[in-house]
Amino acid sequence: MPSLIPSLLSGHHENLLSSLKTIERHHLSWAHLDVMDGHFVPNFSFGPQIIKTLKRHSSLFFDVHLMLEHPERFISTFIEAGANLLSFHVESQAPIAATLKHIREQNCATGLACNPDSPEELLLPWLEQVDRLLFMAVQPGFCGQTFRHDVLHKIAKIAAIRQRRELSFRIAVDGGIDAITAEKCLKAGADVVVSGTSFFDPVKRRSLRKLLP
Ligand code: DX5
Ligand code: ZN
Repeated sequence: MPSLIPSLLSGHHENLLSSLKTIERHHLSWAHLDVMDGHFVPNFSFGPQIIKTLKRHSSLFFDVHLMLEHPERFISTFIEAGANLLSFHVESQAPIAATLKHIREQNCATGLACNPDSPEELLLPWLEQVDRLLFMAVQPGFCGQTFRHDVLHKIAKIAAIRQRRELSFRIAVDGGIDAITAEKCLKAGADVVVSGTSFFDPVKRRSLRKLLP
């Protein structure tokens, strides 16, 4: 897993393929794709058809972030569309154990996301069953928001538990990432940061160069 994953939500929506090419040009191997239902979050983005089309033209690893009230209804759809890692929210209506199992059985990596206002305790029962946790540092639904520093102590707590219990899941942070907040996340124990606005703005991207291979 690279330490930076660009989020296509801040890409060029008139030509998302060109945004995937931008990721490849910077020698990064993962793309983060945000899926919204207008209900779990007050916004829409793209769905399985667009993801499937993009996957046909890209060999990037697709890290799909489902912001859906009922993600359990769409697991096979997104895996068939090309998701390599599928994250859903611990706050969604999904039966968590069954949904993680369903994802894993289809040879896809499992992810569990957690909103900024949710306590990290909600994640504790699932640490042995996930490949990656996704800590939201903004209220999900939109790019370009301000990083919430209160996510840092949650990351540190979970990273300490991971070490104590010798677990192998990865920790990612999503939202409000720039050079400064990325460094804070990595220092707190995160392995990777997701960046939309900072990565796709050519000027801001320069400040992320430490995270680029
Ligand atoms: C927000 C999305 C994020 C978003 C990040 O709901 O989950 O992935 O694209 O964008 P920035 O980096 O602009 O906060
Ligand atoms: Zn996301």
